Amino acid sequence: MANVSVMDKLVSLAKRRGFVFQSSEIYGGLGSVWDYGPLGVELKRNIKDRWWRSMVLAREDVEGLDAGILMHPRVWEASGHVAGFTDPLVDCKQCKNRFRADDERIKGTPGEPTAQCPVCGTKGTLTAPRLFNLMFKTFMGPVEEDAAVVFLRPETAQGIYVNYLNVLQSSRQKVPFGIAQIGKAFRNEITPGNFIFRTREFEQMEMQFFVKPGTDDHWFEYWREERMRWLGNLGLNPDKLRFHRHTADELAHYAKDAYDIEYEFPFGWKEFEGIHNRTDFDLRRHQEYSGKRLEYFDQPANERFLPYVVETSIGADRLALVVLIDAYREEEVKGETRVVLRLHPALAPIKAGVFPLVNKDGMPEAARGVYDGLQGRFSVFYDDGGAIGRRYRRQDEAGTPFGITIDGQTIDDRTVTVRDRDTLAQERVGIDRLDGYLAERLGG
Ligand code: GAP
Repeated sequence: MANVSVMDKLVSLAKRRGFVFQSSEIYGGLGSVWDYGPLGVELKRNIKDRWWRSMVLAREDVEGLDAGILMHPRVWEASGHVAGFTDPLVDCKQCKNRFRADDERIKGTPGEPTAQCPVCGTKGTLTAPRLFNLMFKTFMGPVEEDAAVVFLRPETAQGIYVNYLNVLQSSRQKVPFGIAQIGKAFRNEITPGNFIFRTREFEQMEMQFFVKPGTDDHWFEYWREERMRWLGNLGLNPDKLRFHRHTADELAHYAKDAYDIEYEFPFGWKEFEGIHNRTDFDLRRHQEYSGKRLEYFDQPANERFLPYVVETSIGADRLALVVLIDAYREEEVKGETRVVLRLHPALAPIKAGVFPLVNKDGMPEAARGVYDGLQGRFSVFYDDGGAIGRRYRRQDEAGTPFGITIDGQTIDDRTVTVRDRDTLAQERVGIDRLDGYLAERLGG
């Protein structure tokens, strides 16, 4: 029960402080869609920026892409999603609830008279499993007919495969090289839940690395290590991170080998990133379905081949949840409990709070000056409401790494105190040094 309450506390903090709200809340909410508030949008943007910078800007061999959410319907036939992106679904004829057939709470075999509904407890009311496609359908153009059906993409990867030749030719890259993309994906999940862990609309950060067949095992290992290293650099607790290698029956239809990176959530070890060796499955299928040759010509070797693909795929929302859970602490400070998010400074939505100690004696004016000097370069927050201790607590809950207090001494010598969120140490820093002081500590 203690674990459940950590999630409850986090959900409530996320709402109270403006990280995450339920979608369409005033209408009673929309199942498993969430909206990011002022702090949440900054957190997620910082996560995406950091991924993009390391994946695209810091590398010569990876290019960026932003493909459409709607794609030609044949894409999803070629990719195998129309035929195979399904979950087995079970209905209870009594209470009308729906479950995945592999729901651990179901007792017995669905469809048999002894099987028991986990919600209403009736026996024999569960239907035999039937396959349910997870892709959202909509219509293109004004006529709602079968010929006009298009899908909301369930993964961003396919936008990369169908643009692989365009990117290759326009960027003049050579294999091995990668294409990275951040964007929305949609899945009509049967059992979404655990806050932003599994939702029906979410964002993926995916990179497809195109390699020569035969070198795929090497690149698979490379990206596996690289991704774990990147996650470690976010300051996540290493004891809560692990790899899980897919067994033969877990492997997706396209994969030769796959590792999940799992985090120990309060509801158990769960995947939040996948590294997949997708072989030439996707390019081969697109070549077949489109009739366009997608082979790469290796000039020095005078050889043509269809590249293999090593994929890294992580959900921005799911990573945001990992980051929030990992950062959440309740600590005793001077006999009081403080709630603090020990977010990596680069991910923190607000970098520094600026506080006049009291609202008189020139302090608000000096504090405004400090605030104006930092705003624009850093995301800073001005707060002159209530006792200074309470103002610190509010920023602790928001994960703000620094608190800058303007006091009587500031007026005399133009120094301020900078309080460190984690150590609570306070240091006097000259106003003219603040910019560099923060930049140094927020950088990496
Ligand atoms: N292109 C490969 C692919 O999509 P996946 O394992 O189905 O692989 C990759 O998804 C990542 O996307 C997951 O590890 C997770 O972080 C995120 N993800 C998938 N489904 C999600 C959902 N319903 N809600 C939130 N994130 C999801």
